[in-house]
Amino acid sequence: MRLAVIGHPIAHSLSPVLHEQWLRASGLFGRYEAIDVTAAELAPLFQAMRDGEFDGFNVTIPYKEAVIPLLDDLEEAAKAAGAVNTVYKRDGRLIGANTDGIGLVTALDPYTDWTGHVLVIGAGGAARGIIHALPTRNVTVTNRTMSRAERLADEFGIESSTLSDVDVSRYDVIIQTTSVGMDGVSSPLSLNRLRQNTVVCDIIYRPLVTPFLSEAAERGGKTVNGIAMFVGQGALAFERFTGVKPDQLVGMKLIESLLEE
Ligand code: ATR
Repeated sequence: MRLAVIGHPIAHSLSPVLHEQWLRASGLFGRYEAIDVTAAELAPLFQAMRDGEFDGFNVTIPYKEAVIPLLDDLEEAAKAAGAVNTVYKRDGRLIGANTDGIGLVTALDPYTDWTGHVLVIGAGGAARGIIHALPTRNVTVTNRTMSRAERLADEFGIESSTLSDVDVSRYDVIIQTTSVGMDGVSSPLSLNRLRQNTVVCDIIYRPLVTPFLSEAAERGGKTVNGIAMFVGQGALAFERFTGVKPDQLVGMKLIESLLEE
């Protein structure tokens, strides 16, 4: 089994350690590399996959959209997102999947039964994939640029709100999908009205605890860091590559230990 994550830059990707651990634990022989590619190298790389040199790819920034014309078919979630994070082979055909949204939703399943109200902060590609995967339409989307939130709300039949109008006490689950907080100091939204036990998730994992998550924890929220989505999407990709369901808990512990170093 030969697998790889492709992107640029790719040196800091945690996918190789995650998938190689799962390969070993599943008793499968193989390796998982990180390949730094230019846009011009994509077509030959996918041809190499067709020729049997690779069994699967994860695709990351900036190629999640660029790889689509190189594939034979797309899963529904990849079509909806207009982006692919996983490429696997079925009967010699290259199939594009997007496991990001459903990976996050699966990772949050132990924390909520999804009967409450969900707030999604952000209206980019990550937010779109997550909203598509949510098992409820009792969702409000909020974003700095209101027109993008309104577009998503129309598309999915959900509510939209400006950031300043959001009342966080109305929500049972809050999912932060923007890049705000990667600097370790900023937060997209105040949580001063957060209800105890609200599930608060940030998809950022560098830093592991964003200012948003740390405020949520101080106010009694049940916090879920970005490792959940990273491992969740990885597990669903691994299953498509190998047919084996990997142990997510073991994956989360491994990634946590690496990020805490
Ligand atoms: P991705 O595909 O990773 O979601 P994206 O499409 O660039 O990336 O979306 C980034 C999200 O982060 C958007 O919701 C963006 O808000 P805008 O639509 O208003 O641009 C949000 N975002 C990025 N930087 C931000 C900032 N400094 N303050 C508030 N929101 C920000």
